[in-house]
Amino acid sequence: MTKEPIVSLENINMSIDGNQILKNVSFELEEGKFYTMLGPSGSGKTTILRVIAGFSNPTSGRILFNGKKINNLPPNKRKINTIFQDYALFPNLNVFDNIAFGLKLQRKNKSEIEERVNQMLKLVQLKGLAEREIDELSGGQKQRVSIARSLVLNPKMLLLDEPLSALDAKLRKDMQYELRELQQRLGITFLFITHDQEEALAMSDFIFVINDGEILQSGTPVDIYDEPINHFVANFIGESNIVSGTMVKDFVVNFVGKDFDCADAGMRPNEPVEVVLRPEDLDITDVDDGKLTVQVDTQIFRGDFYEIIAYDEDHNEWQIQSTNPTKDGATVGINFDPEDIHVMRYGEKEQDFDARLETYED
Ligand SMILES: Nc1ncnc2c1ncn2[C@@H]1O[C@H](COP(=O)(O)OP(=O)(O)OP(=O)(O)O)[C@@H](O)[C@H]1O
Ligand SMILES: [Mg+2]
Repeated sequence: MTKEPIVSLENINMSIDGNQILKNVSFELEEGKFYTMLGPSGSGKTTILRVIAGFSNPTSGRILFNGKKINNLPPNKRKINTIFQDYALFPNLNVFDNIAFGLKLQRKNKSEIEERVNQMLKLVQLKGLAEREIDELSGGQKQRVSIARSLVLNPKMLLLDEPLSALDAKLRKDMQYELRELQQRLGITFLFITHDQEEALAMSDFIFVINDGEILQSGTPVDIYDEPINHFVANFIGESNIVSGTMVKDFVVNFVGKDFDCADAGMRPNEPVEVVLRPEDLDITDVDDGKLTVQVDTQIFRGDFYEIIAYDEDHNEWQIQSTNPTKDGATVGINFDPEDIHVMRYGEKEQDFDARLETYED
């Protein structure tokens, strides 16, 4: 039996001044999971959060919380809290009072407030900083105050709008672990927004990829990385080599003038397709041992591998990650396994994509 979703969006559309900002957005969020909305700037991520939190009304569509329609429920009546990108802390209140603010509004008594705020300070590891002013905190500490201020109200769900984007790379990574750990410990549903694909892959149980107001694909990080639905997703998530080809028949695809065995099926015979090969799945070989022959253009040392850029006879660019350097201008082979090839249809929608995969996978 699948769990009843805590939040569902059903065919949410949103237009502002004749521009359609959200296009038929539908999804369900289960209790206790870490969800990420991943998409480029302007794709509609914040708008979706605002609709769920109740700060914006969709033009059409339903929002359900535990199966009940909440379209007309004001934000403060929804058991959902939001952490904004700029934290929106009260600069004139210290750490303790920032966290206590919501409880005071709820007219909780002093000893309960004290107990709950202290619990939160411990949870986000700010115990010694209760009396600190907000402008005497680092970015990561402000972030934690903001998390504590939301969690102290026992929300069923937390919406986080790019909360880590203002932090430097090291702190950002630390906070990724902390947030993930906190979410798992508390078992609250998180909907986290980012435009950073690595962050999305590292943190999430489930990812929604959004572009231009439309959810293009949803799935686990592994699903989306291994089986991107189209060019946009393949390019946005991870590094990809994408070349055009033809699906000869089930499990055989032609590109760069050759037939290759692959693990994909369910297209029309000779249907034009796009073929994805990830740089880390390619090996450099002698010309005789390679499935394709390429000429090396440049190589860059990236620390744990060399990133090699090469071109085939059709002038397709190939990015290859190799532990060994090669020579600029060298002609080499590249090798890969049939399972490393991923074939994409032009314009396929998620429902059709999922249904097609089900017919031949496992
Ligand atoms: N109040 C508004 N009036 C007009 N257009 C708006 C309004 N709010 C958002 N938009 C437009 O809707 C689109 C989606 O905006 P949204 O803020 O949801 O994007 P986003 O994915 O959160 O982007 P970012 O990563 O830059 O924060 C954008 O094109 C934006 O200009
Ligand atoms: Mg935004």
